[in-house]
Amino acid sequence: MKTKFWHLNKNEDIRTQLAEAAKLIREGEVVAFPTETVYGLGANGLDSKAAKKIFAAKERPADNPLILHIADKAAMGLLAVDLSPNAVRLMDEFWPGPLTLIVNKSIIVPIEVTAGLDTVAVRMPDHPIAKALIELSGCPIAAPSANKSGKPSPTKATAVQEDMDGVIAGIIDGGISDIGVESTIVDTTSLVPTILRPGGVTLEMLEAVLGAVEIDPGLLLVNQKPKAPGMKYRHYAPKAEMYLIEGVFAAEQISFFVNRATKAGKKIGVLADAATVSLLANSSQVVAHSWGNTQAELAEKLYDYLRCFDQEEVDVIVAQGVSEEALGLAIMNRMRKAAGNNILKAERGKLLLQRGTIPSFL
Ligand code: TXA
Ligand code: MG
Repeated sequence: MKTKFWHLNKNEDIRTQLAEAAKLIREGEVVAFPTETVYGLGANGLDSKAAKKIFAAKERPADNPLILHIADKAAMGLLAVDLSPNAVRLMDEFWPGPLTLIVNKSIIVPIEVTAGLDTVAVRMPDHPIAKALIELSGCPIAAPSANKSGKPSPTKATAVQEDMDGVIAGIIDGGISDIGVESTIVDTTSLVPTILRPGGVTLEMLEAVLGAVEIDPGLLLVNQKPKAPGMKYRHYAPKAEMYLIEGVFAAEQISFFVNRATKAGKKIGVLADAATVSLLANSSQVVAHSWGNTQAELAEKLYDYLRCFDQEEVDVIVAQGVSEEALGLAIMNRMRKAAGNNILKAERGKLLLQRGTIPSFL
């Protein structure tokens, strides 16, 4: 299949430039589009055949449901039944924005979209292109992140191309996704609203509106199955084996790790704070990215860094953990998954294995 590519010009009318993409969506094709979190792989969310094309393009397991994207709050009334007061409060407070609500589904939502569940995930993105595309298509757009299953989510159109060129009908280039990690998913069907995936709307922000909020224990414990089917898969994974070093002495242990790796002849990718990166020897064997100054900056660039390590063909990656406050919860969730749970704890002068494996060169 030849994939069309639309590079949108901000100075011209967005709707005119989106007409062809919206027509393809109406015809049951798959088109990738930007949102404020990450790029989505979109198709008509009320058409089960179109939804199946998304699963095929992404090579996504059929048990992993999709999010329906809407352009106005009223559309929730068609997709959901028995909406809880908490759901309504969250829509009022955070939509449009990086928050997905799990609600009881109405009969118009195909089971191919929900992977057989009685609930459906719904989100109203805060992005002018996503909004216009949904409106012009005249249907809710089902969209997972626009990566091949298991790879880091794309935050720019060229990253979508790497995974989807020749596989889908088109890609809309709307620049970089500002937030950079996927939306927060909250189950509003449980008695106490529960975070199934941390994201752009933080635990602290949800608590300020709702009071009590739970975090799905499956996100924190290795031996418990997460409630969002997608969260059980290794995800956001770069090609090279990745190790996450947590704890206050992480900086010192990252230098040690990098030395051992380079001595063993490995090319190593490093993701750490600026001070730690500045201590590393300048070598063609070391590809280091520093976080930037804020959590928001790290979230925005995280997936891009992971994809860049693939392009640089590093043999191994080491990343420094961050505090789990605010957006840090989402960042650490993604880093732990990218590391496939290879987690090390840095203490003064030593490195302890928390989970997973230790590389042979240590
Ligand atoms: O920011 C985002 O949410 C992006 C952009 C494109 O909107 N989308 C996204 O979709 O991240 P995806 O498919 O990569 O992740 C959706 C997650 C999966 O973990 C899936 O299992 C979960 O949502 N999910 C979908 N429907 C669900 C349901 N009814 N109950 C529990 N989890 C659900
Ligand atoms: Mg995804």
